[in-house]
Amino acid sequence: MIKISPSILSSDFSNLEREIRSLDAAGADWIHIDVMDGAFVPNITLGFPVIRAIRPHTIRPFDVHLMIDRPERYAAQFVKAGADIVTFHIESTDRPRETVGLIREAGASAAVSLKPGTPAETVFPLLDEIDMALVMSVEPGFGGQSFLPDSVDKIRAIRREAIRRGKQTVIQVDGGIDGNTILLCAAAGADCFAVGSTVFKSPDRAETIASLRRAAERAYSTDI
Ligand code: DX5
Ligand code: ZN
Repeated sequence: MIKISPSILSSDFSNLEREIRSLDAAGADWIHIDVMDGAFVPNITLGFPVIRAIRPHTIRPFDVHLMIDRPERYAAQFVKAGADIVTFHIESTDRPRETVGLIREAGASAAVSLKPGTPAETVFPLLDEIDMALVMSVEPGFGGQSFLPDSVDKIRAIRREAIRRGKQTVIQVDGGIDGNTILLCAAAGADCFAVGSTVFKSPDRAETIASLRRAAERAYSTDI
């Protein structure tokens, strides 16, 4: 099932309650929350208090994308703060297996993300343990960047390997997703999309989310 996960990085941070309620009403499947520490990426966003503060305003799953060094230090606390899915970067830790275990033990789904320069094969050894792989289609750190087309081959390689292993791994793509790039990604086997500027720039969020979902549903294929 296709999922659209609007990224609140592009939202009005002075009105987060209103933004969360608006995404919920607009039919967002998940809420994508980008956590940046100023070390793993050159930007700083938000942490536990903000996630706790917005948690009561929707029952939609919180899809928390950690762009932080050594996520094993904090993964369980993000679950406690309200994360339903915790994604960490394979490049950010030398203990990926332990980090997956910590997220799972705390009661959330675990996902691993790859930066654009990181080969697809890096995630293969973890495919039997994770719920989702996140392919970054821009360099992590900022919204509003252009989609990197090489991401499509990476999505396809991960989907093929998941199929080979008989796994229903969710493949999320994050960065530069719009009505065109979503087609390329879904046709290569991606079924979950973090979308920032396309949703937040649109005058009708509900229509934008619905049409992105329809486009992905039409294009989605595992016959790759
Ligand atoms: C970037 C973040 C993305 C960002 C996507 O590091 O991980 O989630 O919000 O924004 P757009 O859709 O504008 O590229
Ligand atoms: Zn993200």
